[in-house]
Amino acid sequence: MTDHILIERHGAVQIIRINRPDKKNALTRAMYAKMSAALAEGDADPAVRVHVFLGVPGAFSSGNDLADFLVIATGGEGGNEVWDFLMALARSQKPMVSGVDGIAVGIGTTLNLHCDLTFATPRTLFRTPFVDLGLVPEAGSSLIAPQILGRQGAFSLLGLGEGFSAERAKAVGMIYDVVAEDALEAAVLAAANDIAAKPPQALKIARDLMREPREALIARIKVESEHFRERLTSEEARAALTAFMSRKRG
Ligand code: COA
Repeated sequence: MTDHILIERHGAVQIIRINRPDKKNALTRAMYAKMSAALAEGDADPAVRVHVFLGVPGAFSSGNDLADFLVIATGGEGGNEVWDFLMALARSQKPMVSGVDGIAVGIGTTLNLHCDLTFATPRTLFRTPFVDLGLVPEAGSSLIAPQILGRQGAFSLLGLGEGFSAERAKAVGMIYDVVAEDALEAAVLAAANDIAAKPPQALKIARDLMREPREALIARIKVESEHFRERLTSEEARAALTAFMSRKRG
């Protein structure tokens, strides 16, 4: 297993820390697998009451590893790790809190749409350039983003690929709060500890009532994934992915 994902426990809080700074926390198949396992194990463990996602200073995540995407785009095997992680997010039984500092691209943005509270820093930029890559929105974002942002806000995020600053994201209800970089982890842990102190059964029911029914979310993720897979092998995606992977060599 990779140490690009670090799992820590702070009392009743499980931290899933994305830790691949040299690639701006791009997510590989092994990293997705480790995060899925952590969510499942934390959900099954009564000692865990909250999941927390954190990145490294300046990078929450630059999204799916584009080299992995290119493998699929050029006819290679993709594996089920991304699908399993999206299912783990959709099925999560316990509150999820995220702390985002800096880069938050692709799933680095859409993961947060599943979180119950997201904190970000002033230098954070949320961005989902799916269409620019010849791809389509994933992780249920085509369903959740319009609920949060309205149709036009969702189109600007998911269709135009416009960047959302932390301030803009907070103003439109996409995240909970903006805090200074050096206060991020403390703010996230304080919120997580507050959540952990609540009566867990009441909190679980309240949370489930407030969230998109799981069946609808899973059905949407399935449809998105079918389009996504087809798009990955399209000429549009192949060209965009090849351009990114060769830009420094060229
Ligand atoms: N997949 C694979 N490698 C990635 C990556 C990704 N998603 N994002 C960054 N990297 C790699 C870069 O190739 C580079 O590797 P190298 O040092 O071996 O050349 C390293 O991480 C640092 O990235 P760099 O582009 O130099 O940093 P930056 O600060 O100038 O830009 C980003 C950061 C995130 C804006 C830019 O890397 C980027 O646009 N990445 C692609 C994001 C993306 O499209 N994600 C998928 C969304 S679906």
